[in-house]
Amino acid sequence: MGRIIAVTNQKGGVGKTTTAVNLCAALAESGQKTLLVDMDPQGNAATGAGIDPRAVDTSMYQVLLGSAEIAHCIRPTGIEQFDVAPARLEMSGAEIELVSAFSRELKLRHALAAVVDDYDYIFIDCPPSLGLLTVNALSAAVEILVPVQCEYYALEGLGQLLHNVELVRDSLNPALVISAIVMVMYDARTRLAAEVVTDVRRHFGDRVCRVVIPRTVRLSEAPSVGQPVTVYAPTSRGAVAYQELAREIHERGEQAGADGIRAAHDPGSDESREAEQADPADVAPINCEGAHT
Ligand SMILES: Nc1ncnc2c1ncn2[C@@H]1O[C@H](COP(=O)(O)OP(=O)(O)O)[C@@H](O)[C@H]1O
Ligand SMILES: [Mg+2]
Repeated sequence: MGRIIAVTNQKGGVGKTTTAVNLCAALAESGQKTLLVDMDPQGNAATGAGIDPRAVDTSMYQVLLGSAEIAHCIRPTGIEQFDVAPARLEMSGAEIELVSAFSRELKLRHALAAVVDDYDYIFIDCPPSLGLLTVNALSAAVEILVPVQCEYYALEGLGQLLHNVELVRDSLNPALVISAIVMVMYDARTRLAAEVVTDVRRHFGDRVCRVVIPRTVRLSEAPSVGQPVTVYAPTSRGAVAYQELAREIHERGEQAGADGIRAAHDPGSDESREAEQADPADVAPINCEGAHT
């Protein structure tokens, strides 16, 4: 059963899609079977992985509304072991169309149950909001990865995000943990960037990844040619950083005994039914040793 990780932050332009696409590519290149599920109507995750969402006949919209199986939506990318489930603009309507649907928050979770055993990793790229699409992502995931820009306002809005995660954990998904905060767009020329990293580490300790993603031109160019940076500029600093981050995320999962957490989330398992009644305080957060080094 794969690790299901939602990449989320309600701010736009903070590096969610860049992180999701490049982590998936790096994990796939290291032999992990990886699926990237696009939950943002803008469809940037698919585009960044080289899939034109306008050219597919089934997207995550049909999957969420129950008119298509997720297997029919999944497309291979140009990278072996890396698949994408694309989204496109029509999905913005799903938030409204699902309003009266039964268990509308769990549509993605139920859809992913059909493929979770086929992958080592499933990443969910979230839209920049805390609406129903994001709630679906947080209900389907076991782990949350939050990219945080190395900018002055980095911590702004994180409190709200943490609060919403708690709400989802209490009402829909007791197994959910924030397993990784990733500092992105780090500009080594500014003192501010280093100060922000120190500040975020002080607040969030071990949950902040050791690897910091630099701000680089190659990372911003790669989506325009529909390639992850590991393909577009494999030896660039951005590519190397995402490869190192992939290794760190993988090792953190192994350390945390992710198997136990995943079993508690399998929609069909006994543990899952128990977890649905469990006190969220009993669910151990992922502990990452050595994250400060
Ligand atoms: N580390 C980085 N260095 C330079 N540009 C980046 C970096 N990360 C993201 N970008 C660029 O910043 C913009 C926003 O990133 P994106 O991943 O789309 O954010 P989000 O998905 O949170 O809206 C994009 O144009 C992207 O190419
Ligand atoms: Mg995005």
